[in-house]
This record gives sequence, C-alpha cells and structure tokens, in this order.
Amino acid sequence: MRKNIVAGNWKMNTTLPEGLALAKELDAALKGKTVNCDVVIGTPFTHLATVAAAIDTAKIGVAAENCADQDKGAYTGEVSAAMVASTGAKYVILGHSERRAYYHETAEILKTKVTLALANGLTPIFCIGEVLEEREAGKHFEVVEEQIKSSLFDLSVEDFGKIVLAYEPVWAIGTGKTATSDQAQEIHAYIRKVVAAKYGETVANDCSILYGGSCNASNAKELFSKPDVDGGLIGGASLGVDKFLPIIEAF
Ligand code: 13P
Repeated sequence: MRKNIVAGNWKMNTTLPEGLALAKELDAALKGKTVNCDVVIGTPFTHLATVAAAIDTAKIGVAAENCADQDKGAYTGEVSAAMVASTGAKYVILGHSERRAYYHETAEILKTKVTLALANGLTPIFCIGEVLEEREAGKHFEVVEEQIKSSLFDLSVEDFGKIVLAYEPVWAIGTGKTATSDQAQEIHAYIRKVVAAKYGETVANDCSILYGGSCNASNAKELFSKPDVDGGLIGGASLGVDKFLPIIEAF
C-alpha cells in the first residue's frame, strides 16, 4: 500500500540541544493527534540516538541524512548504515542534490549506499531532480529517469519495494520557488511510469514519491492533492513545529 509521508530534512542545522528540543516539541504536538501520513525527521548524525530515544518513534520516524558507501573499517569520519540503524533511525536520505553537488556523490556511489542501507534494514529516501538548465532545456524527464535507473534498477523487486523516492527539482530547493502542483504531478506520474516499466504496475503504485523544494504550509495542500504526489521532503519549513505541523496536517 502506498503511504503518504511528510519528512523533514534538517540539513546542517541545529545543535544537539536545539535539535532535541525541536524533536520533543514535535512529539508533544503530535501526541494524541491522528494524522493521515507517516512523519519522519531527518537529523544530523550527532542527533540521531538522542532524538530517537526522546520521542515516540512509532509516530515519528527518524532519518539520517547520509550514510557511508563502505560497510566498516578505516574510513575516518564516515558513518556506516549499520551505525545509523543502531541509533534507532529507520530511514536514510540518500542522493540529495546537495550531496551530489558538493560531495561529488555519483550514481555508482549512491547505488552502493542504497544497497548498504537496505542490508541494514534502513528505508532509503532516494532523491532525484534536475537543475534549472536541464528543466529549461526540457531534459528533466530524462535526467530523473537516468538517476533512477543508474542507482536503483539493479535492485530486486523486493528491495525496490522498500525505497521511497523524493523528486526535488534543484531550482526549487531553498529558493522559495516551488514547482507548481501540475509540474510536480506531471513528473511524478512520469517517474511512476518509469518504475512500472521495470518493476510492474503494483510496485509502481505502491511506491511513495515525495515532492521537495520550498514546500511549505501554504502550498502543501495543493501539491499533496495531486494523485502522484505522496507527500513532501521538507527543508527549511521542517525547522519549526509551527511551520512543519501544518504541512503534516495538509493530508
Ligand atoms: P527546502 O524545503 O528548504 O526548499 O529544502 C528542500 C530540500 O532540499 C529537502 O530535502
């Protein structure tokens, strides 16, 4: 069954005390509330264990924002998928455009990260999306198709079924410029078609495809009303409960 998901990506924001306070505030705000989507918060590595221990993780899933492309060993400063899983986190955001652009994460590296995440029981939230020049050149469909194929299409049907996709047009991230709901719907439907061609209609229909890029309380309802938009990956607006909760409640 396809799930609606609203996931926060805190990026490199909040100290541990600040992040803990934010997570606790969200936990308290959701207590006793019925919401119509799964809620996830993606926090820096340093916060994962503390946050996971402080909140009701049956209600709010915890995500890492990255993991290593190696299993274990002499990789100073890296954090493995097994380490992430041992904190109580259940998800890992992979392939974010900031990781691709600033840390040179290639399709091949991401493929390895996805495999390691799945092997350690984590749900990858796999990000795809085109830059402005690609959108303007009308290449956005082929760009996302290639990103999906090159990192995910060696997965078994069973493993692909565990992936959450997040379409994040790079030109909409942190810019205040959101894709229109029609633009989001158009490409989400295309992504689902790409998945269906490889893994079949059932897997494609069950796959949650989130939209990310300046999603906020004012545009979430319209975006989430589209049949192929199954939620959001939220950056800036996930850093305050006053902004994040209305997005959750948009479902
Ligand atoms: P903003 O919501 O700040 O545009 O960030 C989106 C994003 O990159 C989420 O991963």
